[in-house]
Amino acid sequence: MQAARDRFSSLRGGFAFLDAPGGSQVPDEVGDAIARALREASANLGAPYETGKRVEAILKNARDDAGRFLGCSSDDVIFGTNMTTLDFMLSRTASRDWKEGDRILVSRLDHDGGVAPWVELAADRGFEVNWIDVTDDLRLDLDDLERKLDERTRVVACVFASNAVGSITDAQRVAELAREAGALSWIDAVHYAAHEPVDVQAIGCDVFLCSPYKFCGPHLGLAYGRHELLESWRPYKARPAGSTPVGRKFETGTAPYELLAGFSATIAYLESLGGMDVLKTYERELGARFLETLPENVTVYGLQTMEGRVPTFLLNVDGVEAATVATTMAERGYGVWAHDNWYSLGLREKLPYPQDAVRVGFIHYNTVDEVDGFVAELASFSK
Ligand SMILES: Cc1ncc(COP(=O)(O)O)c(C=O)c1O
Repeated sequence: MQAARDRFSSLRGGFAFLDAPGGSQVPDEVGDAIARALREASANLGAPYETGKRVEAILKNARDDAGRFLGCSSDDVIFGTNMTTLDFMLSRTASRDWKEGDRILVSRLDHDGGVAPWVELAADRGFEVNWIDVTDDLRLDLDDLERKLDERTRVVACVFASNAVGSITDAQRVAELAREAGALSWIDAVHYAAHEPVDVQAIGCDVFLCSPYKFCGPHLGLAYGRHELLESWRPYKARPAGSTPVGRKFETGTAPYELLAGFSATIAYLESLGGMDVLKTYERELGARFLETLPENVTVYGLQTMEGRVPTFLLNVDGVEAATVATTMAERGYGVWAHDNWYSLGLREKLPYPQDAVRVGFIHYNTVDEVDGFVAELASFSK
């Protein structure tokens, strides 16, 4: 991974960023692509000269690259400001013909970016929101999902991997159960897509959302919608803005072309490393080493092995406040944060710590030395 690390100015200072779940570091080539677009391309589509053609090419390339990343046609890709904004917009769009009393299922594992859009929608339109529970080891409880699905359920919205405790959800099974009940499956993959390869067709979901700034890209949201659904939905859209291919129907206003150019550079960067399959294997080794070498003064919440999780860990050190751990670690060259709920409000009720916990997230640019050094620092708290 040293060759990959050399592509990041931000990693040259020796500080170990173990905070990718909040937003990853970005390789220089992504910043360069953004700057180039600002220098060399027009600010909008439609100009009949060279700089205008460059904007068209940026848009087309970004859609093609997103399609490859997600495993879908570039037609079915929707770009937006971030996942939360896309989710507010798409949930409203999807529900235009739903009736009062229709039901929505969200999960206790979810980030509130995947919950609040439905809660607010329900408040406006008289829908009912119910929570799918988590198991004792903090995974989505599929039995509880089965119990709660009924003919009034219009959508099952859940997180693919928890940004707080790292557990992975069986999204394929969620999609299957939702489909059998006649409901939509709506997958928040913001955390998952930074660590695992994605194939929305294989999952069989209806809507899938992620955020490139979690995987070495610029601040953008990215969504996939099943083609027939996108064809059938009426968008909230100004006229005569472009509506083809179908994903563009749901993009409003002028796109951030420079960020789309940066997004393409991100996908090229990930592909140059062999793609997410390769990165996943490496990250799992980091995660396994971390778990195997953790000192006894540390409690990890949720799954205790790499089985069924990504390398994101929520933990506390015995007898030391999480905020103290985070600030001490920062002084010692390790970037982690302390927080109470990590925007996972439903999950927080199931977490046993009184105040905050520390989140440690490994991603492909982290190294074994960083894992070992961090573990040694954790152990030093007990001395
Ligand atoms: C699992 C998960 N879902 C949703 C979000 C919200 O994403 P965005 O910042 O793109 O709105 C986050 C952000 O951390 C997240 O981790």
